Amino acid sequence: MECMSLSEAMISRKSIRGFLPDPVPQDALERIIELAIQSPSASNAQPWLLAVVTGKPLAELNRRAVELREAGAPINPDVAPADLFGDYLRRRREVGIQIFKLLGIERDDMEGREEWNRKALRFFDAPVGVFIYTDGTLERSRTDFDLGLLTEALCLAAMCFGLGTCIDQQALCYPELIQEITGIPEGSRLTAAVAIGYPDWSFPANKLDSTREPLEAVTSWHGFA
Ligand SMILES: Cc1cc2nc3c(=O)[nH]c(=O)nc-3n(C[C@H](O)[C@H](O)[C@H](O)COP(=O)(O)O)c2cc1C
Repeated sequence: MECMSLSEAMISRKSIRGFLPDPVPQDALERIIELAIQSPSASNAQPWLLAVVTGKPLAELNRRAVELREAGAPINPDVAPADLFGDYLRRRREVGIQIFKLLGIERDDMEGREEWNRKALRFFDAPVGVFIYTDGTLERSRTDFDLGLLTEALCLAAMCFGLGTCIDQQALCYPELIQEITGIPEGSRLTAAVAIGYPDWSFPANKLDSTREPLEAVTSWHGFA
């Protein structure tokens, strides 16, 4: 394993939404998870569990998720809650506009947009989908933060193996289907989904470089000279 510097990885990490079909070796995924589970967690409770899916079960999951979407099945209310407003909503819209522009999908191209949503549901056709979940009897305030730390660490660790990732909450639309296929026990709470694979750099949406507010906009300083 050869890895870039930590700062290089943090700067160059980006969401990858187009992948090569090449399979990802299991030993690379094991190493990535070993690195990710070094993440801190409150009281070292380590409330995270992972289910890694590829091949036939992933193909079945993707196919049936699309069928559920086409049948208008109700989706997990935790996916894309309608709580954004103001600058938060503006930023979400901006990223959506940029992606559709890169893909050449016009505003009124409803079928193009729908196909993009189906692709997101299918882990962007990545060869690997990872579900990060927890014991549903634990409080969300305890688990969400820790599972978030693990998720980012997983994305950074994947870069050491030349792999790209996209945290893809749209892949969590149908938790019962996910539980059926992966055997994740009932009563678990699915918190994150991550697509993993080798980036297809020719895929237009992978050219997106999302922006960040500057440091001054997000930081206040106290007690500095
Ligand atoms: C909790 C979470 C959920 C996300 N879900 C999706 C998703 O469903 N579909 C998608 O295209 N990107 C998703 N993303 C990726 C974000 O859109 C992306 O991180 C953001 O636009 C910043 O871009 P970057 O990751 O390329 O830096 C998600 C990211 C996070 C942290």
